[in-house]
Formats: sequence, structure tokens, C-alpha cells
Amino acid sequence: MRVPRHVAIIMDGNGRWAERRGLPRAAGHRAGVKPVRTCIEECARQGVEALTLFAFSSENFRRPLTEVGLLMQLFLEALDREIDELAGKGVQVRFIGARELLAAALTERMAAAEARTRDNAGLKLAIAVAYGGRWDILGAAQRLARAVAAGELDWASVDEARFGAELALGDRPDPDLFIRTGGDQRISNYLLWNLAYTELWFSDTLWPEFDAAELERAFAAFAERERRFGLTSAQLGAGAC
Ligand code: IPE
Ligand code: IPE
Ligand code: MG
Repeated sequence: MRVPRHVAIIMDGNGRWAERRGLPRAAGHRAGVKPVRTCIEECARQGVEALTLFAFSSENFRRPLTEVGLLMQLFLEALDREIDELAGKGVQVRFIGARELLAAALTERMAAAEARTRDNAGLKLAIAVAYGGRWDILGAAQRLARAVAAGELDWASVDEARFGAELALGDRPDPDLFIRTGGDQRISNYLLWNLAYTELWFSDTLWPEFDAAELERAFAAFAERERRFGLTSAQLGAGAC
């Protein structure tokens, strides 16, 4: 079976999972940690090269302060708890997002996790925290504009490859497969540039209930898709790509 090289996931539905059980939303966020581990293990096992997980969007800062605080605390605890195992499995960890909006206690641990796993050769894991696709594109545009203004870059040399390289995931292939749990069918300001030709797969499963079997269903659906990238089926059949 054709396995995606890069999988990008919006892990949605924690709050509803908890509310349906009469539990506080926090319980849903806690229950959402296990499927993260499952996904990392399964992707590594199946030879996926890169996995990018949406943990907290730019817009999630608009949630009640208590929920934002709890999520940040949970990220911190999860990172402390999981980093040894991730490092041991050869996972290369990276965080993408506006770090200046996060507490120093968290960004210090993020930087430490990245430094510790930088040379690992296994699964390339990116966790999007305080991330927005527009933030990503805008930041790239600003950095390029600054280089042009400083006379270090010729504006005419900025093509799609150069622009894409400036993004948070500029050194990784675009996602082949996008998965969103929780039933909503939208991108929610995730990797806007990178998802241009990604296969989209939506599931009604709430994130805390996402498991290896569900990931397998997504992979099976992906393997069935014909990715044409603008070509016709006949061209693909003739081996043009
Ligand atoms: C996803 O679950 C986790 C984050 C956005 C941090 P939600 O908290 O959005 O869960 P629902 O969508 O309210 O069920
Ligand atoms: C998207 O989920 C972001 C994450 C899963 C981290 P949301 O639940 O915040 O998305 P919207 O706001 O419903 O689109
Ligand atoms: Mg949600």
C-alpha cells in the first residue's frame, strides 16, 4: 500500500468528547494525549517520513483564559513526560508557531526538546502551537521583504520554491494526507500554503477516540486516491508526472 510521506492532522473534538460524558472540557484535552502517542508510533512504524500535528491555533487564544492556561500546562506536562521516549525512538521534534506568545517555561522546554532530537534520523514530528497558516505566510513575506529592502535579495528571484522554503515547514515535503477528526470539514487556518495539493480526509471520530484502526482507514483511503496535480488520468497512465 502507498503510504503518505507527510501526514498533517487537525486533532479536533476533545471538548465535545468530554461534554458528552458530562465531564469538563479539560478531561477531553487530557484524553487527547494518548491518540497523539498512537499516531506517532503508527506513523513511525509504517515508514511515514513526517507528521505534523495541530495542537493549538492562533485563534485558540480567544478561548477562555482558564482553558488556554490548562492546555499550556498540559503541553508542558506531556512534553516533560514524553521527551525521553520520543528521543529514544529517534523522533526529530520541532515546534512551529508564534513562540513569543507562549510562556518562557514552555518555550524553554520546546527549544531543549528540539536541540536534543535535532540529529535524530527517525520520524520528523512537527507540533503546531500558537500556529496559523496566515501567520506563517505573512512571516515569510516579511522576512523576504526585509532581505530585499536590505539589498540582500533580488525580488525577481523569489519564486514558489524560495517562498516555500521560508515557511515553518520549508525544509519538509508538502503534506500528502490531511486528516481532521471531530466532524467539521474545514482547514481552520492550518498549513494554508503547504496544503495546496494535499489529499483531505475527514472523520466524525472525536480526537480522544482516534486510534490505529482509524489511522489505517485514512491511509487506505489515501492509497485509493488518484493524485493528478492538474494532469489528466490518461497522462498519469502514460507515466507523465
Ligand atoms: C481540539 O479539540 C483541541 C484544541 C483546539 C486545542 P477542541 O477543544 O476544539 O474540541 P471541540 O471541537 O470543542 O470538541
Ligand atoms: C483547530 O481546531 C485547531 C486545533 C485542533 C488545534 P478548532 O476546534 O479550534 O477549530 P475551529 O475553530 O472549530 O475551526
Ligand atoms: Mg474544535
